[in-house]
Amino acid sequence: MNRGIPPFYEPGLEDLVREMVEKGMLSGSTDNVDAVRQSYVTFICVGTPSLPDGSADLSAIEASTRDVGMALNDVDGYHVVVAKSTIPPGTTENLILTTLEKYSGKRVGVDFGLCMNPEFLRQGEAVHDSLNPDRIVIGEYDKKSGDVVEYTYKDYDCPKMRCDIKAAELIKYAANSLLATKITFANEFSRICEKFDVDVYEVMKGVGLDFRINPRFLNAGCGFGGSCFPKDVNAIVALADCIGVETPLLDSVLYTNKLQPMHFVELIKDAVGTLDGKIVAFLGLSFKPNTDDTRATRALPIIKKLYDEGAKVKAYDPKATKNFERMTDLPVEYYENWEEALRNADLAVVQSDWKEIRDIEADDFKRLLKNPIVVDGRRTYEPNVMISKGVKYFGIGWNNLEI
Ligand code: UDX
Repeated sequence: MNRGIPPFYEPGLEDLVREMVEKGMLSGSTDNVDAVRQSYVTFICVGTPSLPDGSADLSAIEASTRDVGMALNDVDGYHVVVAKSTIPPGTTENLILTTLEKYSGKRVGVDFGLCMNPEFLRQGEAVHDSLNPDRIVIGEYDKKSGDVVEYTYKDYDCPKMRCDIKAAELIKYAANSLLATKITFANEFSRICEKFDVDVYEVMKGVGLDFRINPRFLNAGCGFGGSCFPKDVNAIVALADCIGVETPLLDSVLYTNKLQPMHFVELIKDAVGTLDGKIVAFLGLSFKPNTDDTRATRALPIIKKLYDEGAKVKAYDPKATKNFERMTDLPVEYYENWEEALRNADLAVVQSDWKEIRDIEADDFKRLLKNPIVVDGRRTYEPNVMISKGVKYFGIGWNNLEI
């Protein structure tokens, strides 16, 4: 980081990090204690991945809070600790607060402040979302802590909502659960639309024009992946189960999300008759475009099922190949450009709609594939263009599109 190089791919981040490092406004340190001593506000932003039962693993929160607590021991003035990580309700007050007090020997509300400030950025759009948030939620232990955090964000022109710490923790889970539910709703409708020869994207456009609903996150596809939606919906379901609350809606969101990649493989099979012995050019391995992140990518269950059905896969992704290779022993052939992945394959399948993949033209599919068949999990192309140019274009949420 101090050389201006982020450890992962995110559009625009490298330039921003380099600029901030050069201007002396950003520096990295492996000495947590020193970093806390030299600042007024500490954000805890460590990961909270899923444990096998779906609940959130809080070990990184515990370890980093211990370091922050030890550092606070040496801090003279008032310091505010802010939990940024996605954590189950109660974690800030029950785990972070008590750990800070234990290791610092100081008292919350007197010597240091405490807030919970959830993060809503999307990967692939992280720089834009961080600089232009829709809202900033500040869960505060007391008014003084909240004032410090609000001041930290003084240059951001967006609604700033102050609330109780547990409400802030839950706002993050509720927001991600609702977004995952919206996508799942569109996915469920995609299977209904296919049976009626109706285009789900047209249906969701008509639905989304209602200002009470809005069109975003109604794009049907082969399911949601990534480091947040699957993890956070699983975590809130596991937590609700522990406290005796039933979650039939969120249970079926998770169930439908497992179903959708399998349904996608059925569509692929329908497009070619049988997958046995077929060579599939697979476009997009990351869980979405503009990221090299492959956590919970739908590419994995889809590719596994393609091999179960006797197919072979030639894969292309602009950035995520290395991360995907680590996730599976399947004999996938990886290519650095889409032309080689498409060459002599029986058909092409799209799993994430990177710009490089969106820019592939109907003539490219016709020139390179054995048969010009494209099965799309994301509605990457304009159907009229593909079909009028002789590509057999199928996908989630439509069937026999008229042109
Ligand atoms: C998400 C939330 O959007 C963000 O607010 C939170 O901070 C972290 O989790 P992220 O996981 O980075 O962000 O990406 P997002 O754009 O939300 O996409 C998640 C998954 O949903 C992807 O697999 C994407 O392909 C899928 N998706 C998204 C759809 O299938 N349809 C849509 O309409 C939108």
